[in-house]
Amino acid sequence: MLRHFDGPVNESVTDVFRPCNAASGSLCGQWVHTGAAVAGGRSAAADVPADRQRNNSGSVSLCQRNDYALSFRGIFSTTCISRGQRMNLTEYIDSKHDEHLNELYEFLRIPSVSAQSEHKPDIERAAKWVAEKLRAAGLDNVEILPTKMHPLVYGESLRAPGKPTILFYGHYDVQPAEPLNLWTSPAFEPTIRAGNLYARGSADDKGQVHIHIRALDAIMKTAGKLPINLKVMIEGEEEVGSVSLWEFVNANKARLKADALVVSDTGMLAAGVPSITYALRGLNYYQIEITGPAQDLHSGIFGGAVPNPITILCELFAKLHDKNSRVAIPGFYDDVAKLSKAERKALESLPWKANDFRKTVGAPGLSGEKGFSIIEQLGARPTLELNGIWGGYTGEGSKTVIPSKAYAKFSTRLVPDQNAEKITRLVERHIRKLLPKTVKFKLDVHSQGNAWAAPYTHPFFEVAHEALEKGFGKRAVFIREGGSIPFVTQMHDTFKVPCILLGFGLPDENAHAPDEHIALENYFGGIKAVAQFYEGLGRL
Ligand code: BES
Ligand code: MN
Ligand code: MN
Repeated sequence: MLRHFDGPVNESVTDVFRPCNAASGSLCGQWVHTGAAVAGGRSAAADVPADRQRNNSGSVSLCQRNDYALSFRGIFSTTCISRGQRMNLTEYIDSKHDEHLNELYEFLRIPSVSAQSEHKPDIERAAKWVAEKLRAAGLDNVEILPTKMHPLVYGESLRAPGKPTILFYGHYDVQPAEPLNLWTSPAFEPTIRAGNLYARGSADDKGQVHIHIRALDAIMKTAGKLPINLKVMIEGEEEVGSVSLWEFVNANKARLKADALVVSDTGMLAAGVPSITYALRGLNYYQIEITGPAQDLHSGIFGGAVPNPITILCELFAKLHDKNSRVAIPGFYDDVAKLSKAERKALESLPWKANDFRKTVGAPGLSGEKGFSIIEQLGARPTLELNGIWGGYTGEGSKTVIPSKAYAKFSTRLVPDQNAEKITRLVERHIRKLLPKTVKFKLDVHSQGNAWAAPYTHPFFEVAHEALEKGFGKRAVFIREGGSIPFVTQMHDTFKVPCILLGFGLPDENAHAPDEHIALENYFGGIKAVAQFYEGLGRL
């Protein structure tokens, strides 16, 4: 909440405050009031970055990177300064409530859908937007770097010798918004309802990226500099499998090297339960095309004598699970790491309610691999899912046809210690074995990625834990998540560094679906927690 300081309301800061000790060049932030009240409203200085304002001696004060002047607006103008007193991080973040949101709205209005080529200009617009905000937050060497597919944005601040170097990663691309008619308000028109902000990307991942941008900005404005070394990489093709990223990481190892990776692209266990994710599943994504007759055929003239590719596709997928909902591909589970007793116990004692999960799913019943709890099924067991299936006639009315082709998209979620390439070989071999010789098939591999899981013993995790508690007022829990973030695995495999995943989404916030949203309390709590986290790392 806004904190009121002493001092009269509506004073201008145009040349009315000067640094108490500008000559020292220190980041004192202690502006001294010298009089001159302006009645009502915004000061001219509000539009001038604090570091470019002149002090009383007429010279530009380089030591003032705080923007107390910028927050000197309207009725709350004097909440920011009281002679010689400065706002702490939390107060500053609270005072910028509307600014955070308005800026996030801008970001969310850009339909940066990585999967659809008509959105290529929007992808580029989003990259530019991110670059601009990183610059505004005070990062150096901000660049938009082209890749084979969509550009990524990189920036850094390496001005804290002896302090940890952190790589922050996120993605500015979003999933397609279709089906559009199922959105209560338009997907790219951010709208607040009942404490939630609705828009594609609000939770995954623009909202969470923005949490970091605003946290960095808050630190820069209150402390004048970052207490750690920071590299920031925001990519534009995560939602299509980060296909260019391996090459980029391999070609830019020196640039990306850091003591730890920090990511906010996951979720919280439940509302009010801040969470640190220590495991993600890997993802292999496939598309299969089955071809029967060389062209579509009249189903009366030919039906009964020729193979129907849709039927064969359905038979194939019906055979890929057994009656216990296990994947029926020989060798699929061979390398799956068993959870230790201790971890199983820890997972079972999480404050998680199966009933909340059932409600979120909304199906009449659940199905899952027999012998495992839901939490284990979601975080520690591999799966195979059919993601889309099509072929033949699906338009209005009826059409009697035997289609030439049938298609499906499907994927496997992988866990430690499965190997993504080996799984592809097993999948391919099994499909070849199951399909009858009456059809041909083509299997495309869209992306492959291993799982990631790592201990959370590094001292950085303690800092993260404390920061989440400061931001949310609650103790954080350590969780496994079922989703996949290819870069986390890549970074971990390449540099063997701790990966700290601070997630601010909730399981029922409709990521990838209509009416995606983020709870405002988690967005604002996230800014505070992340700012505390970076500050805490600087104290190590
Ligand atoms: N942010 C998600 C991943 C995620 C979501 C992790 C929830 C943990 C909890 C990410 O944007 C995503 O959707 N990833 C894709 C994988 C990608 C290779 C297309 C996924 O998990 O399906
Ligand atoms: Mn994401
Ligand atoms: Mn996603």
